[in-house]
Amino acid sequence: MKILAINGSPKSDGNTAQALQVLLQEVQNENIETELVTIGNKTIHGCIGCSRCAEQQNRQCVSFNDSVNELLPKMFAADGIVLGSPVYFAGINGTMKSFLDRAFFVSWVNGGLLRLKVGASVVAVRRSGGSAAFDQLNKYFQISELTTVGSCYWNIIHGFIPGEINQDLEGLRIVRTLGRNLAWLLKLVEHGRGHVVPPVLEEPVMTNFVR
Ligand SMILES: Cc1cc2nc3c(=O)[nH]c(=O)nc-3n(C[C@H](O)[C@H](O)[C@H](O)COP(=O)(O)O)c2cc1C
Repeated sequence: MKILAINGSPKSDGNTAQALQVLLQEVQNENIETELVTIGNKTIHGCIGCSRCAEQQNRQCVSFNDSVNELLPKMFAADGIVLGSPVYFAGINGTMKSFLDRAFFVSWVNGGLLRLKVGASVVAVRRSGGSAAFDQLNKYFQISELTTVGSCYWNIIHGFIPGEINQDLEGLRIVRTLGRNLAWLLKLVEHGRGHVVPPVLEEPVMTNFVR
């Protein structure tokens, strides 16, 4: 079993990365493999809506061959995906949005390649806007049929200067709890494999509301 964690922050040791490390430590304690990748320091083009990924069905972004294509195979291979983002103007940061729009669109139009994996998300924020950003991350999971893991509060941790999250004792508890809940759910899913039949995926239908 493996968890892939994606840090949207441009800082590879900022508050988001540190929160993800706290979470992943709990997962590792349950003998589950983890990997943390920072994408926020890369140049990642936004989705241009060309839909060539839908036409070509090659599990890749056809227009830009960057970190999205590099990471997609790892995302498809992982049992669980953790998303972490800093809060920028009450949302996720721009690079993370560019990454997620393209990665999740490729997965979605290629037959639901992230379907039935386990997902968890966390955001790091100085003061406010965390709840909106947290919702934004979870939207990617929900439209892609990942089972989203919760914690004992919404997964928001507070800090401004890197390392300040260590003063947010409640936030740390939330993140650690999330890590343990994630490990538990992963083990349940693994235990059920071969015993519980996955739900059937219906043929797609698009109703575009244009009259
Ligand atoms: C462009 C920008 C926008 C930000 N917007 C917000 C905001 O809306 N609300 C807030 O409380 N903090 C905001 N912050 C502060 C960051 O969310 C905070 O410092 C966070 O811990 C950064 O995480 P990182 O160290 O992983 O990059 C902003 C920071 C930047 C650089």
